[in-house]
Amino acid sequence: MKLLIINGPNLNMLGIREPSIYGKQDYAALIAYLESICAAQHIQLKCFQSNHEGAIVDEIQSALNTYDAILINPAAYTHTSVAILDALKAVALPTVEVHLSDINTRESFRQHSFISAAALKTIAGKGFEGYKEGILFLKDYLERKNMEEK
Ligand code: DQA
Repeated sequence: MKLLIINGPNLNMLGIREPSIYGKQDYAALIAYLESICAAQHIQLKCFQSNHEGAIVDEIQSALNTYDAILINPAAYTHTSVAILDALKAVALPTVEVHLSDINTRESFRQHSFISAAALKTIAGKGFEGYKEGILFLKDYLERKNMEEK
């Protein structure tokens, strides 16, 4: 299984950025955590982070025929980006949306996600653990799909 994990704007500032909301661990710690999970699960992983909407759209498009699944934390673009939604719909890869914080209990502008319409599942409010849940969900989803196709 080949997995693309995308982190959107300001997630490179983890640890510095509003630690009471996003935690004290930095972006490097998140990547190390994701790499350890994927190594244990025999998943080939690429982690991509960008503060730019178009760069995220480009990365999603380039996943077509290369990756089996996408895990995305679109960060602030969650609440604004039809372009990222359309890119995910275009490649139509199994996708999970993840958020460190519980967007459903925060400001009203965070309570709507454009991205959810292209995601099999949205996980919010579980910190780094939410990424693990998303990875395991996608692995299980692909294994089931492969079994059905045999
Ligand atoms: C976030 C939630 C978004 O509302 C916010 O803009 C982020 C991070 C999260 O992981 O909790 O940048 O996606």
